[in-house]
Amino acid sequence: MPGILTERNLMWRARAREVAEKVVRPLAAKYDREQEYPWEIKEAIAKAGLMGVWIPEAYGGSGGGVIDLCVCVEELSRACGGVGVLYAVNALGTFPVMVGGTEEQKHRFLRPIAKGEKLISFGLSEKFAGSDAASLHATAVKDGDSYVLNGEKKWNTNGGAADIYTVFAVTDPSSKSRRTSAIMVEKGTPGFRIGKVEDKMGIRCVPVVEIHFDNCRVPAKNLLGEVPGLGFKHAMATLDKARPGVAAQAVGLAQGALEYAMVYAGYREQFGAPISSFQMIQALLADMATKTEAARNLVYVAAMAVDNEAPNVSKLSAMCKLFATDVAMEVTTDAVQIFGGYGYMRDYPIEKYMRDAKITQIYEGTNQVQRMVVARSLVKESLGLKHLLDYIPKEIQKGVNDPETLKRLAEDAKRLAEETAGALDVPSHQS
Ligand code: CAA
Repeated sequence: MPGILTERNLMWRARAREVAEKVVRPLAAKYDREQEYPWEIKEAIAKAGLMGVWIPEAYGGSGGGVIDLCVCVEELSRACGGVGVLYAVNALGTFPVMVGGTEEQKHRFLRPIAKGEKLISFGLSEKFAGSDAASLHATAVKDGDSYVLNGEKKWNTNGGAADIYTVFAVTDPSSKSRRTSAIMVEKGTPGFRIGKVEDKMGIRCVPVVEIHFDNCRVPAKNLLGEVPGLGFKHAMATLDKARPGVAAQAVGLAQGALEYAMVYAGYREQFGAPISSFQMIQALLADMATKTEAARNLVYVAAMAVDNEAPNVSKLSAMCKLFATDVAMEVTTDAVQIFGGYGYMRDYPIEKYMRDAKITQIYEGTNQVQRMVVARSLVKESLGLKHLLDYIPKEIQKGVNDPETLKRLAEDAKRLAEETAGALDVPSHQS
């Protein structure tokens, strides 16, 4: 997709594509079946230098942006959606550190990730706090120079494989706006335990686990920013940066499924001709390709807006996430349709795309939450557009909003206000 991408973005894309085709695609079905973490794929990703793409050079990374992350995620996901998130979730885990960490924390936690020596996981959701991310129950209580963590976290992608965990917990239950904080926890800390390992529909090569904290004592210097109460803001700013990555995963899945469908349609014959010669299949393919291209461009625009710290990033980030992931679900489903009965079978590569695509509509904020974020932003924007009211004819209904009725209602309101004020006056001789 030339044009919008720079030479640097294209360089990362080429590197990720090479790993995807040489290492990921041949192993995708195996790890999907076995539901095991693909260490050999992670090593290939690290060897290609992809782990530090989004991390600033000052902290050992390559100094790229969210756009570079996105082109890499897209390429990996084109071969395997699970590998796409296995990679992208490291960005999700590091973004809170980049957004709110001290210099010392950035050096300590970002460097080993950038070098590919350590993996990271993001722990926000809980069993009873999913979309309502502000209502967490896990606690981190200050005790001397430590925080003591108790409670559980749910849906920790990369959990178990990861060495570092960005955990959100309640540090001040009495506060509404400064209730939670993000705290970095290292695997192996006493009181930290991996719980249930989920058996998933898709993205099966990457573990999703529960994490349990039982009097888990973490140094106070691991609290992000070393100022408590900023957890929710750090989480929201993180998700603004991370959602284009999920959208890129969706674009990769759509593109990958489209390519399999294109090739299969040219090869599969029915009624004495390749099915790609039938107009109904052609229409499906044309719509799949058009939607995928539209989604890709929105993802790139949103990712670039994040990198440029544009004022409307929450909206664009949510828009690209909801649009690209809905497209991925449609396109992967249509790809299965083109494969017909074979598409429904596990020994064909296409049904995996559909299974992998489904989660992209759910995690890092359901698409219902994304629509809410977009709509809230539109409501705010509409306040700056009030001059348009002059161009919109107003309906007048007699007895409701005609001039005489409005005048009478105003007089009634004034009289009522005066009477009420009078009734409340306490005469001075009674005091
Ligand atoms: N950046 C910075 N601050 C923000 C913000 C943003 N994007 N959005 C909101 N805030 C601030 C607000 O300004 C407000 O601050 P004040 O109180 O100082 O005014 C505060 O945060 C509360 O904001 P809201 O009133 O908008 O909060 P809300 O409770 O109504 O929730 C929400 C908003 C959009 C629904 C949010 O809770 C949300 O995004 N929920 C989805 C959570 C989510 O995506 N979870 C996925 C976890 S990751 C995952 O899926 C697992 C994985 O490993 C892949």
